[in-house]
Amino acid sequence: MKRIALVTGASRGIGRTTVEALAEGGFDVVGAARDPADVPRAARGFALDVTDDASVAAFARRVADELGGWHVLVNNAGVALDGFDAKVARRTLDVNLRGPIRVTGALRAHALEGAVIVNVSSGIGELSCLRPPLRARYASGELSEADLLELADRFVAEVADGTHAAAGWPSSAYAVSKVSLNAWTRWLAAELGDRARVNAVCPGWVRTDMGGPHASRGVDEGAASVVWAATLGPDGPTGGFFRDGARIEF
Ligand SMILES: NC(=O)c1ccc[n+]([C@@H]2O[C@H](COP(=O)([O-])OP(=O)(O)OC[C@H]3O[C@@H](n4cnc5c(N)ncnc54)[C@H](OP(=O)(O)O)[C@@H]3O)[C@@H](O)[C@H]2O)c1
Repeated sequence: MKRIALVTGASRGIGRTTVEALAEGGFDVVGAARDPADVPRAARGFALDVTDDASVAAFARRVADELGGWHVLVNNAGVALDGFDAKVARRTLDVNLRGPIRVTGALRAHALEGAVIVNVSSGIGELSCLRPPLRARYASGELSEADLLELADRFVAEVADGTHAAAGWPSSAYAVSKVSLNAWTRWLAAELGDRARVNAVCPGWVRTDMGGPHASRGVDEGAASVVWAATLGPDGPTGGFFRDGARIEF
């Protein structure tokens, strides 16, 4: 039986190339996209908007009913929006942090033996983007999913009232979303224990719609880090942050 891989944000960029590489590598791949017609032919295209609870629930139902579950989940869908205000902060965290939390929460019950989860993050979300004491809180490894969602709400509220910088947050919703995603990755790895390998990956700066034409890496090179983490065996690492298969600092 082929291993089943689910990849969010499969319409373009790193997600699309990851779908193609996993299909080439012998996986039965579902490409999840807001418009499934955009998913490459190597995969089945399922509709998914990671910000929409009903869409996420319908996606999880299809995975359970039509595939019987999944082995690999790549939480890749993400945004890097222009500008910086409370609206941008809320939307960025909704896609980049709450998106993976929603999708993983809905799919968790349908994980098959040897499950692997990859959260596509960014070196921009390293801990140094936060000032103490916030940095120490995120570094502690003690923040739960609920704590991280509460802190994300606090960030948005503090952006709205102009106090976020004094509180130690950067003026980048993208950085906050990825440092939160990294902290959540550690929490999820501990939560799932032997039931799954869970890692965050930075693909580097990649020439996609998000990375722009001047980025240093082609999309194949960026996707290779994701594919590496998606194909880890049961003895592979869990709860880490990796680029090009090598551990990097949170
Ligand atoms: N490119 C880089 O240099 C770089 C560096 C570090 C990390 N990353 C991370 O790598 C991941 C992929 O980035 P990329 O460069 O491939 O970006 P991209 O080319 O802009 O593609 C983003 C993908 O996310 C999907 N998406 C956005 N909002 C969504 C939503 N609400 N529901 C479902 N899908 C949604 C998009 O779908 P639509 O087509 O429907 O919009 C698209 O498939 C992101 O998590 C990004 O933060 C990228």
